[in-house]
Parts: sequence; C-alpha cells; structure tokens
Amino acid sequence: MKILAFAGSNSEVSINKKLVTFAASFFPNDEVEILDLNDYEMPFYKHEREQQTGIPELAKDFAKKIDGADLILMSLAEHNSAYSAAFKNVFDWVSRIKDRKHFGEKPMFLMATAPGNGGGKNVIEVFLKRAPFSGANVVESFSLPNFRDRFEEGKGITDQEKLDELKSKVETVKQFFQ
Ligand SMILES: Cc1cc2nc3c(=O)[nH]c(=O)nc-3n(C[C@H](O)[C@H](O)[C@H](O)COP(=O)(O)O)c2cc1C
Repeated sequence: MKILAFAGSNSEVSINKKLVTFAASFFPNDEVEILDLNDYEMPFYKHEREQQTGIPELAKDFAKKIDGADLILMSLAEHNSAYSAAFKNVFDWVSRIKDRKHFGEKPMFLMATAPGNGGGKNVIEVFLKRAPFSGANVVESFSLPNFRDRFEEGKGITDQEKLDELKSKVETVKQFFQ
C-alpha cells in the first residue's frame, strides 16, 4: 500500500515531522512518501487571488499526492490551540479544488506532538471535528506530550507507555486494511 506522511508544520526542525517519520517506520513493507510542507508554500489564500490567478499548481500537486495514497499519516503542529497557518493555508487552497474531498476520503492516522503537557490535543480535537466534512477517515489518533522528554533522535519514542500506545494504534490502522 502507498502511504503519504507529512507534518502540519513548516518548521525546518519540526517535531511533528520527526514523530510522523517515526510512525512511518512501523510500516516497513509499504511504500512510504514523506512530504515537507515547505515544498507546498503558496501565497496566503485570498478570494480575489483565487479569482484572478486560480488555484496554485502546488495545491493541485498536493491533492494528487493525497489521491494517490491508500493511507495518510499526518501529525499536526498546534499553534494557539489550532492548526499552524502553514498547514491551514495548504488545507484552504486544496479545499477549493472542485469535485473532490480535501483528504480524498482516505483512511488517516492522525497525530500531534508538542513540547508541553497538552501534546497537541487541541489541534487533534479541531481536526476530528472537521474530518467528516473534509473527507478524512480518521482511523486512529495519537498525541505525544512533552516531546523533548519522550523522544530521542535516532531512537524515537523513549517512553515505553507511549511507545506501546503508538504500536497498538499502528496495529489498529493495519487491521483496517485486512
Ligand atoms: C505561534 C505558536 C503558537 C503555539 N501554540 C501552542 C499551543 O497552543 N499549544 C501547544 O501545545 N504548543 C503551542 N506552541 C508550541 C508548539 O507546540 C511547538 O512550537 C512545536 O514545536 C510545534 O510543532 P513543530 O515543531 O512540528 O512545528 C506554539 C508555538 C507557536 C510558534
């Protein structure tokens, strides 16, 4: 199966990209593509901009990546209890493409992490509310609080309880396809 993985962040040192890349490592028999939101940076969505210049090619490229995937792994950065502006801009442009749902009705493993205790729980909640209207079939969700205490470069999640939780949720996601 084809897996598309990305973080909802444009940080060059995104902890969500680290988490989603780690989660993708539990799918060794699948074809995994990890996207970087920086490669999809577009002008800020604006009604007049859409009318004058149309939907940017980058938004269409992003939609094609989604449409070509069987499973989406997405880890959202939480900014002020919601999406990062970088993610929201891609989401908004992609949502303007006609005759398709933004997330293509694809199964999704939704994640979030943050340096604080919340672990991105708010942004997970925000996305879960929106998901049915945006064609995202969230099979599982996972939040990793206190990223810096629970994740090590090269090792991944070091907190046994959270690691077990991630592994168990990966299994649920795999079972979805059986
Ligand atoms: C503008 C801004 C707002 C933030 N708001 C929150 C927040 O509401 N909750 C939270 O847990 N962390 C918040 N953070 C901290 C982010 O979780 C942290 O920067 C994290 O590294 C973002 O993920 P990323 O590294 O994948 O971009 C905020 C950071 C910024 C820059």
